[in-house]
Amino acid sequence: MTRSFRASLKPEGDVELSRYLAGWRELTRFLTPLGSIVAFAASEAFIKVTALEARVQGPDAAHYTSLATMAAWEQRAGSAQASGSRTLLLLHRALRWSQLCLQRVATGTLGGPDAGVQCGDAYRTALAPHHPWLIRQAARLAFLALPSRGRLLELACPAAGEADARAALARAAGVLEQVYNRTQDLLARHSLLQLA
Ligand SMILES: *[C@@H]1O[C@H](CO)[C@@H](O)[C@H](O)[C@H]1NC(C)=O
Repeated sequence: MTRSFRASLKPEGDVELSRYLAGWRELTRFLTPLGSIVAFAASEAFIKVTALEARVQGPDAAHYTSLATMAAWEQRAGSAQASGSRTLLLLHRALRWSQLCLQRVATGTLGGPDAGVQCGDAYRTALAPHHPWLIRQAARLAFLALPSRGRLLELACPAAGEADARAALARAAGVLEQVYNRTQDLLARHSLLQLA
């Protein structure tokens, strides 16, 4: 699931967009079976991935090779053109939620908060501040219906035992964290964190 994300981290500190989006495609495929709220979020992300891919492959493709080239180009072109950066910012916040949720599910203890609570907390940290009240209430209820940690681990890594599944999720969360940190840094440097 994390191969493309890892490959998106360019050695000079940039993020390659085509690989970042390929990573997202893999991530949405991975998240979709994990319950209806996650599947809904994944389908929303999928629409954004497709929209950004249209730019990466479109007539202005030369300006959409990486996050930095996109940011520079859209800033030169003016606010009407900023929708690639805005779409990326929305994906970026959803990536943070995915990272925190996977990390907490991977490391949660027996008798501690279950996956629904942990992923709901991750939602409150990463996404709720950017969502209207109604969506926040709906999400709060939906996370309560998330499968248990044991079931989530089974769904995420069907052929593995619990320890292996936890290790795999923790590794995946680690890669997502690297990508998140890099993207956060670039978005901050281009003053794009307040865009939407
Ligand atoms: C990401 O950034 C945070 C905060 O700066 C830092 O604590 C963490 O170690 C970083 N993680 C990775 C994987 O680089």
